[in-house]
Amino acid sequence: MSRGVTGRSYFLCTERLGFGTWAPDDFPLALALWTDPRVTGLFGGPFPVDEVRRRLDREITNQARFGFQYWPLFRRTDGAHVGCSGLRPCDRPHTCEMGFHLRPEFWRQGFGTEAARAVVAHAFTTPDVEALFAGHHPDNQDSRRLLTRLGFRSIGEELYPPTGLLHPSYLLERSEWDARREA
Ligand SMILES: CC(C)(COP(=O)(O)OP(=O)(O)OC[C@H]1O[C@@H](n2cnc3c(N)ncnc32)[C@H](O)[C@@H]1OP(=O)(O)O)[C@@H](O)C(=O)NCCC(=O)NCCS
Repeated sequence: MSRGVTGRSYFLCTERLGFGTWAPDDFPLALALWTDPRVTGLFGGPFPVDEVRRRLDREITNQARFGFQYWPLFRRTDGAHVGCSGLRPCDRPHTCEMGFHLRPEFWRQGFGTEAARAVVAHAFTTPDVEALFAGHHPDNQDSRRLLTRLGFRSIGEELYPPTGLLHPSYLLERSEWDARREA
Protein backbone atom coordinates (compact mmCIF):
# COMPACT_ATOMS: atom_id res chain seq x y z
CA MET A 1 0.00 0.00 0.00
CA SER A 2 1.35 3.46 -0.87
CA ARG A 3 -0.07 6.97 -0.70
CA GLY A 4 -0.52 9.22 -3.76
CA VAL A 5 0.08 12.97 -4.00
CA THR A 6 -3.54 13.67 -2.97
CA GLY A 7 -3.33 11.32 0.02
CA ARG A 8 -5.29 8.50 -1.65
CA SER A 9 -4.10 4.95 -0.90
CA TYR A 10 -2.90 2.83 -3.80
CA PHE A 11 -2.77 -0.94 -3.30
CA LEU A 12 -1.02 -1.37 -6.66
CA CYS A 13 1.15 0.94 -8.76
CA THR A 14 2.56 0.91 -12.26
CA GLU A 15 5.10 3.38 -13.59
CA ARG A 16 2.43 6.07 -14.17
CA LEU A 17 -0.74 4.84 -12.45
CA GLY A 18 -1.99 4.17 -8.94
CA PHE A 19 -4.86 1.74 -8.28
CA GLY A 20 -7.28 2.81 -5.55
CA THR A 21 -10.56 1.28 -4.39
CA TRP A 22 -13.96 2.89 -4.91
CA ALA A 23 -15.67 4.48 -1.90
CA PRO A 24 -19.13 6.11 -1.70
CA ASP A 25 -17.44 9.57 -1.66
CA ASP A 26 -16.11 8.87 -5.17
CA PHE A 27 -19.55 9.33 -6.70
CA PRO A 28 -18.51 12.55 -8.57
CA LEU A 29 -15.64 10.63 -10.24
CA ALA A 30 -17.95 7.76 -11.16
CA LEU A 31 -20.49 10.23 -12.53
CA ALA A 32 -17.94 11.99 -14.74
CA LEU A 33 -16.71 8.65 -16.09
CA TRP A 34 -19.94 6.73 -16.69
CA THR A 35 -22.17 9.57 -17.91
CA ASP A 36 -19.67 10.37 -20.67
CA PRO A 37 -21.02 8.91 -23.96
CA ARG A 38 -17.49 8.75 -25.38
CA VAL A 39 -16.50 6.37 -22.57
CA THR A 40 -19.66 4.26 -22.32
CA GLY A 41 -21.17 4.46 -25.81
CA LEU A 42 -19.82 1.05 -26.85
CA PHE A 43 -20.92 -0.89 -23.75
CA GLY A 44 -24.50 0.24 -23.25
CA GLY A 45 -24.16 3.85 -22.01
CA PRO A 46 -24.29 6.70 -21.41
CA PHE A 47 -25.88 5.80 -18.10
CA PRO A 48 -28.35 7.92 -16.13
CA VAL A 49 -27.41 9.12 -12.66
CA ASP A 50 -29.27 6.36 -10.80
CA GLU A 51 -27.51 3.70 -12.91
CA VAL A 52 -24.14 5.28 -12.10
CA ARG A 53 -25.04 5.03 -8.40
CA ARG A 54 -25.90 1.33 -8.87
CA ARG A 55 -22.64 0.73 -10.74
CA LEU A 56 -20.59 2.35 -8.01
CA ASP A 57 -22.43 0.34 -5.33
CA ARG A 58 -21.81 -2.86 -7.29
CA GLU A 59 -18.08 -2.15 -7.51
CA ILE A 60 -17.91 -1.53 -3.76
CA THR A 61 -19.85 -4.76 -3.10
CA ASN A 62 -17.60 -6.74 -5.45
CA GLN A 63 -14.51 -5.57 -3.57
CA ALA A 64 -16.05 -6.61 -0.25
CA ARG A 65 -17.27 -10.01 -1.52
CA PHE A 66 -14.56 -11.07 -3.94
CA GLY A 67 -11.55 -8.81 -3.27
CA PHE A 68 -11.71 -7.21 -6.71
CA GLN A 69 -13.60 -4.56 -8.66
CA TYR A 70 -13.01 -2.25 -11.62
CA TRP A 71 -10.54 -0.28 -9.52
CA PRO A 72 -10.31 3.51 -9.99
CA LEU A 73 -7.04 4.63 -11.59
CA PHE A 74 -5.12 7.81 -10.84
CA ARG A 75 -2.15 9.44 -12.54
CA ARG A 76 0.64 9.27 -10.00
CA THR A 77 2.19 12.64 -10.86
CA ASP A 78 -0.90 14.70 -9.99
CA GLY A 79 -3.65 12.34 -8.75
CA ALA A 80 -5.88 13.00 -11.79
CA HIS A 81 -8.64 10.43 -12.21
CA VAL A 82 -7.78 8.41 -15.33
CA GLY A 83 -10.68 5.91 -15.26
CA CYS A 84 -10.97 2.36 -13.97
CA SER A 85 -9.72 -1.10 -14.79
CA GLY A 86 -10.04 -4.40 -13.03
CA LEU A 87 -11.99 -7.58 -12.54
CA ARG A 88 -15.56 -8.76 -12.21
CA PRO A 89 -17.03 -12.16 -11.41
CA CYS A 90 -17.76 -14.32 -14.44
CA ASP A 91 -19.95 -17.41 -14.84
CA ARG A 92 -17.06 -19.48 -16.23
CA PRO A 93 -15.31 -21.59 -13.56
CA HIS A 94 -12.10 -20.14 -12.06
CA THR A 95 -12.38 -17.17 -14.43
CA CYS A 96 -12.82 -13.41 -13.93
CA GLU A 97 -13.87 -10.82 -16.49
CA MET A 98 -11.35 -8.05 -17.13
CA GLY A 99 -12.29 -4.55 -18.28
CA PHE A 100 -11.04 -0.97 -18.67
CA HIS A 101 -12.84 2.39 -18.94
CA LEU A 102 -10.60 5.43 -19.43
CA ARG A 103 -11.55 9.09 -19.59
CA PRO A 104 -10.98 10.39 -23.14
CA GLU A 105 -8.24 12.87 -22.20
CA PHE A 106 -6.08 9.84 -21.29
CA TRP A 107 -6.66 7.76 -24.41
CA ARG A 108 -3.85 6.85 -26.81
CA GLN A 109 -1.03 7.39 -24.36
CA GLY A 110 -0.61 3.74 -23.42
CA PHE A 111 -2.48 4.05 -20.10
CA GLY A 112 -5.03 1.38 -21.04
CA THR A 113 -2.37 -1.22 -21.78
CA GLU A 114 -0.35 -0.23 -18.72
CA ALA A 115 -3.38 -0.64 -16.45
CA ALA A 116 -4.64 -3.85 -18.05
CA ARG A 117 -1.21 -5.49 -17.89
CA ALA A 118 -1.06 -4.75 -14.14
CA VAL A 119 -4.60 -6.11 -13.66
CA VAL A 120 -3.70 -9.37 -15.44
CA ALA A 121 -0.51 -9.83 -13.39
CA HIS A 122 -2.44 -9.07 -10.20
CA ALA A 123 -5.27 -11.45 -11.12
CA PHE A 124 -2.88 -14.34 -11.61
CA THR A 125 -1.41 -13.86 -8.12
CA THR A 126 -4.79 -15.21 -6.91
CA PRO A 127 -4.49 -19.03 -6.85
CA ASP A 128 -8.18 -19.58 -7.69
CA VAL A 129 -8.03 -17.52 -10.91
CA GLU A 130 -7.01 -19.69 -13.87
CA ALA A 131 -8.24 -17.54 -16.78
CA LEU A 132 -9.47 -14.06 -17.69
CA PHE A 133 -12.37 -13.35 -20.02
CA ALA A 134 -12.86 -10.09 -21.96
CA GLY A 135 -15.16 -8.86 -24.69
CA HIS A 136 -15.77 -5.70 -26.68
CA HIS A 137 -18.25 -4.03 -29.01
CA PRO A 138 -17.57 -5.04 -32.64
CA ASP A 139 -16.66 -1.42 -33.47
CA ASN A 140 -14.21 -1.04 -30.57
CA GLN A 141 -10.91 -1.41 -32.39
CA ASP A 142 -8.93 0.18 -29.55
CA SER A 143 -10.09 -2.56 -27.18
CA ARG A 144 -9.38 -5.24 -29.75
CA ARG A 145 -5.79 -4.02 -30.20
CA LEU A 146 -5.25 -3.70 -26.46
CA LEU A 147 -6.48 -7.23 -25.70
CA THR A 148 -4.49 -8.72 -28.57
CA ARG A 149 -1.37 -6.89 -27.38
CA LEU A 150 -1.73 -8.57 -24.00
CA GLY A 151 -2.11 -12.03 -25.52
CA PHE A 152 -5.89 -12.53 -25.18
CA ARG A 153 -7.04 -15.28 -27.57
CA SER A 154 -10.24 -14.95 -29.61
CA ILE A 155 -12.97 -17.45 -28.66
CA GLY A 156 -15.62 -16.17 -31.06
CA GLU A 157 -18.58 -13.92 -30.32
CA GLU A 158 -21.01 -13.79 -27.41
CA LEU A 159 -24.27 -11.90 -26.98
CA TYR A 160 -23.79 -8.84 -24.77
CA PRO A 161 -27.31 -7.98 -23.52
CA PRO A 162 -26.67 -4.25 -22.78
CA THR A 163 -25.96 -3.59 -26.48
CA GLY A 164 -28.00 -6.49 -27.89
CA LEU A 165 -25.03 -7.35 -30.12
CA LEU A 166 -22.61 -10.21 -30.51
CA HIS A 167 -19.34 -9.00 -28.99
CA PRO A 168 -15.95 -10.45 -29.98
CA SER A 169 -14.80 -12.39 -26.91
CA TYR A 170 -11.43 -13.54 -25.61
CA LEU A 171 -9.74 -15.67 -23.00
CA LEU A 172 -6.29 -15.48 -21.48
CA GLU A 173 -5.25 -18.51 -19.45
CA ARG A 174 -2.71 -18.38 -16.67
CA SER A 175 -0.41 -20.78 -18.59
CA GLU A 176 -0.55 -18.52 -21.67
CA TRP A 177 0.33 -15.46 -19.60
CA ASP A 178 3.20 -17.30 -17.88
CA ALA A 179 4.52 -18.49 -21.25
CA ARG A 180 4.53 -14.91 -22.60
CA ARG A 181 6.35 -13.65 -19.53
CA GLU A 182 9.01 -16.33 -19.86
CA ALA A 183 9.47 -15.83 -23.64
C1 LIG B 1 -10.24 1.07 -24.95
C2 LIG B 1 -9.39 2.03 -24.17
C3 LIG B 1 -9.23 1.53 -22.73
C4 LIG B 1 -8.00 2.10 -24.81
O1 LIG B 1 -7.16 2.91 -23.98
P1 LIG B 1 -5.77 3.49 -24.50
O2 LIG B 1 -5.01 3.93 -23.29
O3 LIG B 1 -6.01 4.46 -25.57
O4 LIG B 1 -5.14 2.15 -25.09
P2 LIG B 1 -3.65 1.67 -25.27
O5 LIG B 1 -2.93 1.60 -23.98
O6 LIG B 1 -3.79 0.38 -26.01
O7 LIG B 1 -2.95 2.78 -26.16
C5 LIG B 1 -3.39 2.99 -27.44
C6 LIG B 1 -2.36 3.67 -28.31
O8 LIG B 1 -1.57 4.63 -27.63
C7 LIG B 1 -0.31 4.68 -28.25
N1 LIG B 1 0.65 5.35 -27.34
C8 LIG B 1 0.85 6.68 -27.35
N2 LIG B 1 1.73 7.00 -26.38
C9 LIG B 1 2.08 5.86 -25.76
C10 LIG B 1 2.95 5.56 -24.68
N3 LIG B 1 3.64 6.50 -24.03
N4 LIG B 1 3.07 4.28 -24.27
C11 LIG B 1 2.40 3.30 -24.91
N5 LIG B 1 1.56 3.54 -25.95
C12 LIG B 1 1.39 4.82 -26.37
C13 LIG B 1 -0.03 3.23 -28.55
O9 LIG B 1 0.89 3.11 -29.59
C14 LIG B 1 -1.41 2.70 -28.95
O10 LIG B 1 -1.61 2.83 -30.34
P3 LIG B 1 -2.21 1.62 -31.25
O11 LIG B 1 -3.41 1.07 -30.54
O12 LIG B 1 -2.57 2.29 -32.52
O13 LIG B 1 -1.15 0.60 -31.37
C15 LIG B 1 -9.98 3.45 -24.16
O14 LIG B 1 -10.12 3.88 -25.48
C16 LIG B 1 -11.33 3.53 -23.46
O15 LIG B 1 -11.38 3.54 -22.23
N6 LIG B 1 -12.41 3.60 -24.24
C17 LIG B 1 -13.76 3.79 -23.69
C18 LIG B 1 -14.21 2.67 -22.80
C19 LIG B 1 -14.22 1.37 -23.52
O16 LIG B 1 -14.70 1.26 -24.63
N7 LIG B 1 -13.69 0.35 -22.83
C20 LIG B 1 -13.65 -0.98 -23.33
C21 LIG B 1 -14.93 -1.67 -23.09
S1 LIG B 1 -14.84 -3.29 -23.82
